[in-house]
Amino acid sequence: MTKSNDIIERLEKQLAHFSFDPKTENIGTVEKNNDGVVIASGLSRAMIGELVMFTKDESGVVLNLDEDSVSIILLGSGDDIKEGDTVKTTGKLLSIGASEDLLGRVINPQGVPLDGKGKIKKTKDMPLERIAAGVVEREPVNIPLKTGVKAIDSMIPIGRGQRELIIGDRGLGKTAIAIDTIINQKSYHKSLKPVICIYVAIGQKQSTVAQIVAKLKETDAFSYTIVVAANAPDAATLQYLAPYAGVAIAEYFMEKGEDVLVIYDDLTKHAWAYRQLSLVLRRPAGREAYPGDIFYLHSRLLERAVKLNKKNGGGSITALPIIETQAGDISAYIPTNVISITDGQIFLQGDLFNIGIRPAINVGNSVSRVGGAAQTDSMKSVSGKMRLELAQYRSLEAFAQFGSELDAATLSQLEKGKRMSEILKQPQYQPMPESLQILSIWAVTNNYLDDIEVQHVQRFEKELHEYAKTHAKKLLEVLDGGEKLNDQTSKLLKKTLEDFKKVFTI
Ligand SMILES: Nc1ncnc2c1ncn2[C@@H]1O[C@H](COP(=O)(O)OP(=O)(O)OP(=O)(O)O)[C@@H](O)[C@H]1O
Ligand SMILES: [Mg+2]
Repeated sequence: MTKSNDIIERLEKQLAHFSFDPKTENIGTVEKNNDGVVIASGLSRAMIGELVMFTKDESGVVLNLDEDSVSIILLGSGDDIKEGDTVKTTGKLLSIGASEDLLGRVINPQGVPLDGKGKIKKTKDMPLERIAAGVVEREPVNIPLKTGVKAIDSMIPIGRGQRELIIGDRGLGKTAIAIDTIINQKSYHKSLKPVICIYVAIGQKQSTVAQIVAKLKETDAFSYTIVVAANAPDAATLQYLAPYAGVAIAEYFMEKGEDVLVIYDDLTKHAWAYRQLSLVLRRPAGREAYPGDIFYLHSRLLERAVKLNKKNGGGSITALPIIETQAGDISAYIPTNVISITDGQIFLQGDLFNIGIRPAINVGNSVSRVGGAAQTDSMKSVSGKMRLELAQYRSLEAFAQFGSELDAATLSQLEKGKRMSEILKQPQYQPMPESLQILSIWAVTNNYLDDIEVQHVQRFEKELHEYAKTHAKKLLEVLDGGEKLNDQTSKLLKKTLEDFKKVFTI
């Protein structure tokens, strides 16, 4: 057994120590049942996250402990639970059954299959609430999690075990980035462990989730993916529990030394679900009417993203939470909270999306605080230059709008910037291997596109990739190897580009 298991077992024992035989004392009385949330008295030793049972086979989970009552969210409809009913604690934390059988399945946060494909074999109960691994069990993020999205892998690289927020207004391609990242895990490099993906859908339309599942199947990405869904028509309780169910399943695989990616789409709706539960409980509301502990709730969830060290099996959980903003306002309560909890953010912007820059990533406002350490040396050698030049281009572009006269150097910088942002465009569902990303970026930063009209840039790139796949296989292999570009590789890049330009026709 790995050390992390030891520690987890110890914590569970400590928690169990606080509980006691339910038959003796741990019985309380229902005071109120409001829309799926019950207030009960007499459960003086209940734990947060503990499973409780009502008569008539109904169950619930402890949400909050107050001075002389506890609040319980119901897992069923709970319509017949009424004042005066008995409720008792079980000494067990709410958990979800996890096993390899979950791969390729769609379930709800209680583990109930939603795909009509029969029962899931349970092997291990994983608690929904758990204390995250401590610092001594972790190691710094050092392995890349490649999204296949050029703009991200080059300038906002993500590492396994990192928490990277995807943030932006409605309909700007937040989900698209997450789904492309899942699809990209299909073609992992030989030297990297495959990644198991968990997509947690919170408060979305059922049809949207069905489309995502269909797309994952179509792209052969579903065999290593699990979808946990609590859709918009589902009870707030289920929507509230969904991300915990997702991370609990992720922990099952991580304990086996696997690398897992969890996507929470999205935590804005999760916060709404929690606000709804809390309003029913008449708990004092804080900023924007959210209960004050929403920050703590999200930080506890995201803290469970981790890169374990070798001694503890070396597994990891990478988290990509998604947050929806209103009119690009990242200073609202929930966005600022989650920005401060994560290791960086990918910021999507409406005006970029509208002028056709898709993915609509605002490179200036986006950052990845830990992923750089995990980026391959080959990518690092080409991307630094681009980030800098792109930033210069954006500021020049704003300046050039005033129509002032520009000198030749500035003009050429502008032209290059246009080509750079053109090459960073990438269609949905087409994640790209790192070798081709490097080839594109190298070509544009080394001036090979200067004489190509902007409207031909995308075709140039496409044809260049086709050309390289047949005429420069060796080069692509070297680039995929991840080593820093040496003279020989640079020469090979140069030759490939020169040869290709001879055959490329406008
Ligand atoms: N890279 C891309 N290229 C072209 N179109 C894209 C790209 N990414 C996303 N889109 C399109 O933009 C639209 C919105 O994408 P998506 O649903 O991923 O956004 P979202 O931010 O998750 O939206 P919501 O807020 O509704 O969840 C979709 O029609 C999608 O096809
Ligand atoms: Mg979405």
